[in-house]
Amino acid sequence: MPYSCQEIPYSISIGIDISKNEIKDNELDFPIDIIKSNEFSNYDYLITPISIKDKNLRKNFPNENTEPIFIDDYYSISSSLFKNQIIAKLHDDDFNLIKDNLDVINKDLDYCNHISVKGINIKYTNIKNSEETFILIQTLKNYLKINPDRRINFEVELTNEGLNTYRKLVSSFEDYYQNIGMSLIIQKQLTENFQEILKEIIVFNINYITVPLSSFLVNKNGFPVLSHNHQEICKFLFEFKPDLIIKDDLNVIKYNEEKNTINFGPIKDCYIYLTYLFKSHKEFKDRTEDLLTFYYDVLQFPLQPLKDNLQSQVYQAFEEDNTKYKYYEKAIFKVIEDLLKDNKNMKLTIGIFGGGRGPIIRSVINAINNHNIEKGNYILFCVEKNLNAFNTLLTLKKNEDIFSNVKMINADMRKFNPNNYNLDKIDICISELLGSFGDNELSPECLINLKQYMSEKGIMIPQEYSSYLRPIYCPSIWSNINAIKENYNSPYIILFKRAFYPIEKIEKCFEFKHYLNEKSDNFNQSKNISFTFDKDSFITGFAGYFDTILYKDIKLSICPNEQHTDKLISWFPIYFPSYRQIQVKKNDILTINISRINDGKKVWYEWNFENNNDSLGYNSIIHNLNGEGYSIIL
Ligand SMILES: C[S@@+](CC[C@H](N)C(=O)[O-])C[C@H]1O[C@@H](n2cnc3c(N)ncnc32)[C@H](O)[C@@H]1O
Repeated sequence: MPYSCQEIPYSISIGIDISKNEIKDNELDFPIDIIKSNEFSNYDYLITPISIKDKNLRKNFPNENTEPIFIDDYYSISSSLFKNQIIAKLHDDDFNLIKDNLDVINKDLDYCNHISVKGINIKYTNIKNSEETFILIQTLKNYLKINPDRRINFEVELTNEGLNTYRKLVSSFEDYYQNIGMSLIIQKQLTENFQEILKEIIVFNINYITVPLSSFLVNKNGFPVLSHNHQEICKFLFEFKPDLIIKDDLNVIKYNEEKNTINFGPIKDCYIYLTYLFKSHKEFKDRTEDLLTFYYDVLQFPLQPLKDNLQSQVYQAFEEDNTKYKYYEKAIFKVIEDLLKDNKNMKLTIGIFGGGRGPIIRSVINAINNHNIEKGNYILFCVEKNLNAFNTLLTLKKNEDIFSNVKMINADMRKFNPNNYNLDKIDICISELLGSFGDNELSPECLINLKQYMSEKGIMIPQEYSSYLRPIYCPSIWSNINAIKENYNSPYIILFKRAFYPIEKIEKCFEFKHYLNEKSDNFNQSKNISFTFDKDSFITGFAGYFDTILYKDIKLSICPNEQHTDKLISWFPIYFPSYRQIQVKKNDILTINISRINDGKKVWYEWNFENNNDSLGYNSIIHNLNGEGYSIIL
């Protein structure tokens, strides 16, 4: 049963790897005996060879007087045990020259299919030989064709070579990407740049963290412990929710003939130590942090609050984020301050457009009260087109005193005319129609009508907003699009976890301004944004962000840099995928061309990628041409 504890909101499965233990032909029962032993009940699975090592015996199997070469349950234990608890380790030796050993590899794979193992582990390092690699990939694809729900894990050490080999290998699995994962070995000798490697390696499916016994130290009480660096690595990786494997590379697990039992040696103490590490790997300080872990890497379609009526639970999620409303309150306070500076007795007309269930109205009321403005000196109204949310606004007005003199109007702001409601020109126009890419909830198209009704010194909050982007490498998420949504022509909203950014810096994309003296009808925009790479990499699209100036120096930002607004969780980044995994070399210039198009009925983005490298020379087709996969309806 997976290990769980109160401190951490997810559990971890723990297994043992005995693949270093050579299984001699008279010891085929050994793995089965381990699984059946009482001591094993804490563990979730066993990684073990499923055949004897002797290649000749396997090659010639079967012949006359032959002995069995595979582990077998001969009816005594259920087949679900193999399916749930055995991961077959294919022999390292067979992968040194695949061409010559294809026969035995296929025999082992066929037997894995026969006993329905949970997964298969392979150690392969021969990536420079492209013919061998090609054969390996074809062989494994053939296996996955008949076993589409199985996983193949490549054993990879935490080194540059491990990362590069795996990256190249995995990019060839295309449709089978979901079946391919990594068993990441935390070897005793760490490379100097292990932290850098870790940052990138987490983009892959890390199914297992494997800690060999030889990586443990012994403390003064004789108890196995890990070095500080090894501990940090494990703690960092636990957040990606892999399973954990203790590898018996020192051959400590032994059969005790006298007692007819299996002796696990120090493995139990290692188990206790690792569960202690897991328990303490992260402090979940508050409920929000706990909640966010469930959103990591989950693909969501962007909301369309203009076309759709948002549900109550969606509003509730917005309202969990106090930060946004606090900043709005600050901005409104400052605007009022500036307007009253010029004319102390000015009667203010304040409009909230797209009020939802009312939290921004509260921000406005707080700001007004903080200025001690008398009731007769301002008019406050709120426009909301969602009839269901409008009902909540009316309920607030009925039940809460502070809302009693707010005029609630059920209308579409694009057709709103204050004269029809006996309202003066608007001094402060407040809206929050922003998406993760700034303009993607059609704030520019919604607000343009209101400009004509602003008073001479009127101010719109927000005053401006911009989108930003940078290339991203997130193959696990990218392959999920294939598995789940099958749409590379749509952007997705994602709280990225398994992502790597070959270029840290973000670049500005589209810009919208709502100053009264500035044109704001630039609904169609195009940008060509180039990035120069300083190392070899792959990319699987680009990530998008936005920032907004609410008023003067009061800003909100979800950009991943020092501008990021602390504790702002209303918006996750947006992801624009590429059709293919795009290879880039050091010094290549990759250009992202992106257009925002408004045809009067809908708005959509088109994007493509161009690599200037002569030999790779990649120029992608245009994604989402004519809005075929995604558009925002006006
Ligand atoms: C992103 S939500 C923000 C809600 C609220 N201001 C908050 O922060 O909790 C945008 C709101 O604007 C409303 N809305 C969008 N387009 C609108 C339009 N053209 N006219 C009126 N309301 C609109 C939506 O129904 C939704 O309630």
